[in-house]
Amino acid sequence: MQYKNYFPENIKSALANDPPGSWMPSLPTGCIRLSAGYPAPNLVPTNQIKSAVDQMIQEEQDLPFHYLGSPRINILKHQIQHRLVQRSIQSEEQELLITSGASQAIDLIARTLLDQQAVVAVEAPTYMEALEIFRNYTKQIISIPMDEFGIQTNVLEAVLTERKRAGLTNPCLLYTIPSFHNPTGSTMTTDRRQHLLALATKFDFLLIEDDAYGELSFSESPFPLKTYDVTDRVLYVGSLSKVVAPGMRIGWILGPKMLLSAISWFKKDLDHPFAHATMSVYIQNIEFEERLDILRDSYRVRRDAMIQALKQYMPKWVTWHVPNGGFFVWLHVENIDTAALLKQALEKGVSYIPGKHFFVNPTDGLHFLRLSFSFAELEEIIAGVQKLGNLLRAIQ
Ligand SMILES: Cc1ncc(COP(=O)(O)O)c(C=O)c1O
Repeated sequence: MQYKNYFPENIKSALANDPPGSWMPSLPTGCIRLSAGYPAPNLVPTNQIKSAVDQMIQEEQDLPFHYLGSPRINILKHQIQHRLVQRSIQSEEQELLITSGASQAIDLIARTLLDQQAVVAVEAPTYMEALEIFRNYTKQIISIPMDEFGIQTNVLEAVLTERKRAGLTNPCLLYTIPSFHNPTGSTMTTDRRQHLLALATKFDFLLIEDDAYGELSFSESPFPLKTYDVTDRVLYVGSLSKVVAPGMRIGWILGPKMLLSAISWFKKDLDHPFAHATMSVYIQNIEFEERLDILRDSYRVRRDAMIQALKQYMPKWVTWHVPNGGFFVWLHVENIDTAALLKQALEKGVSYIPGKHFFVNPTDGLHFLRLSFSFAELEEIIAGVQKLGNLLRAIQ
């Protein structure tokens, strides 16, 4: 049976892309996972979540197991609004939609705003899952280079000006991760944040600000783009995946009411009362700021261990910037095809993500790779960097 004959053109086009998750290396047992952008296992609050489940069922009996759900779904919304105030963002209830992680947030926005004719702009490099999402809707993705200070807004301005002059469609949406970027670890400067917003107004596009790592700062916390958004162009996406647990699948979109109500139209998986109520009880029972301090301290120590190991074990021609937050260090390894090198790295017992997966044009990422310091134990981080350093030295 030729099922593909049933697919409309937009779906056929999406299915011609690489399969979801094909960037993820399959790892031999015992391999040190410097590829995994997951929270550290010992920082997932398993016992507190277990207590929260017990308390919730004790208090609400069967309520969180029904469609109508628990009154705590609304309380969770207020708790998230309170968290946003800590990020200097004021909001009204109707401006906030709780989603199944930041991933669903990005997908719902793409679904509402994009068709096959739409042009999207992303950073080069960018979060590979976001690329997968956008590719499901359109092939027209342009990428704008970034450096350690975030997206190069002067290049963006030049590109948009030239496209306009040439009569090309300009992007209706730009996706950015301004703070503690995945994969580069970079943070956009305040000047560039303001320039980016000015360009959004000048060239009339909307922005997705993905702030998945925004609270995980090792020194000062930058103000989100949203705090400068006087013309209401930013759809702010957040998540509890990195600061509580990704398996709880709780994220959100904060944006202008009218846009949010259109986006909510397409959220047909309903609420998730069990997860939302559990998270609400968990948040009520802890001091969130204290938890964040613990996370920041722990990830800072891991970051320092990785940077120290890189200095010690990498050949001179390997370069990186020190991230001020988040989970990642982005390595430039001259003349080495990092996708081809991965097989040998895995044989030596260390994994990473080859740079090509983070680019619209994979060849742009040939000589880069992403290391994560969030998941592996400290000794593993050091041993993993040493293995990779030895491999690179042996090759050149
Ligand atoms: C930049 C970025 N956005 C979103 C996500 C996904 O978050 P969630 O688990 O909330 O879907 C990740 C996870 O790696 C990420 O790095």
